[in-house]
Amino acid sequence: MEITARDLFFWLFTILITGLPIIIYFGEKRVRKLSPSDWIPIPPATEIISLRIYPIKSCRGIEVPSVKLLKTGLDLDRQWMFIDVSEKHKFQTIREVSKLTLINTAINWETDELEISIANDKSNPPTKVVVPAHPSEEWLAENTTLTHAFIWSETHDAYVYPESISKPFSDFLDMEVRLVIRGPTPRVLRGCGAPKLLGRTEAIKWADMAPVLLTNVRSINELNNRLMQRGYDAITLERFRPNIVVAGSDAWAEDMWKTVKMSPRESDHGSSEKKKRNASIIMDVTSRCARCHVPNVDPDTGMAHKEQPFDLMYTYRRIDEGAKYKSCFGMLCAPRSEGTIKVGDKFEVTAVTAEHKFISPMK
Ligand SMILES: *[C@@H]1O[C@H](CO)[C@@H](O)[C@H](O)[C@H]1NC(C)=O
Ligand SMILES: *[C@@H]1O[C@H](CO)[C@@H](O)[C@H](O)[C@H]1NC(C)=O
Repeated sequence: MEITARDLFFWLFTILITGLPIIIYFGEKRVRKLSPSDWIPIPPATEIISLRIYPIKSCRGIEVPSVKLLKTGLDLDRQWMFIDVSEKHKFQTIREVSKLTLINTAINWETDELEISIANDKSNPPTKVVVPAHPSEEWLAENTTLTHAFIWSETHDAYVYPESISKPFSDFLDMEVRLVIRGPTPRVLRGCGAPKLLGRTEAIKWADMAPVLLTNVRSINELNNRLMQRGYDAITLERFRPNIVVAGSDAWAEDMWKTVKMSPRESDHGSSEKKKRNASIIMDVTSRCARCHVPNVDPDTGMAHKEQPFDLMYTYRRIDEGAKYKSCFGMLCAPRSEGTIKVGDKFEVTAVTAEHKFISPMK
């Protein structure tokens, strides 16, 4: 049979007309099916290498081998803060009072008490103020006054400790302050963690933005390499005040994390310890953490460096559309459940996203 050009044209035309919708249909379906994980790889599982709590906002924190993760953040993290004695009861942070970082905190796990002291204390005997770490309603009712504290344009209820408890710190800071503990009314998340965006209502204690700050040790190493290449000293991760530090696979991979999961190690499987703990805890990564000048303050001296790491980060870490003039370090997270987490626990990224966009909760 002879095939004429006309036949060929006819068949091609027919195939095109009938085939095109099918091609478009499946093509569309394919496009819709793509998720960020198709072009952003899900990193391999690593582990938690450090857990840190900062019992008093802006004061020195402590490293712990294991800790209870609550919906509101790690147990005892930012449970207290200092306020001024104005009518407002305004919160005090390292931003204005960098000496706050010279106030040390420790937890006596045996007696369940918070111990507050002052770095390089020359007084004899050294100042040590001790309060219950998990005070009962009765203790609070008898020993504190339930009033309010002002933080980031909002007023929240707070139990104010008496002047006698705060006196050594007022003397040390050269300003009158009072210690407060979070009151009973939830301080609902704002910004990217707001109920409308998160899909549920979560609350925090006195942290600025979110229950948990998650960081990747590879990122501080990368930043330190850059600092040292320019002749500056390396800095510790403590400057960024993270709660959970993981051994990430690549520096800055966390910029795209969307959900993460922490679980007991394989070796804990079946053990009675594992049964006591929840199998795994998933956290929603609500946004990147846009930074201020606080990481310039050396926690050992309370002195702020004029430039670093702020200036260096400004050259290459302004990566979030929602925070054009701020550098990002670390990820803000909201846990979906509660349970104990430990250094050495398995850490997995379960979803990634290209859509993080910072919304400041600190207005
Ligand atoms: C109030 O504080 C004191 C000193 O810590 C303690 O002995 C007392 O039991 C507290 N009151 C209550 C009701 O717990
Ligand atoms: C496990 O998670 C649930 C829900 O968040 C919580 O109520 C419970 O206390 C947790 N169990 C342990 C052992 O932490």
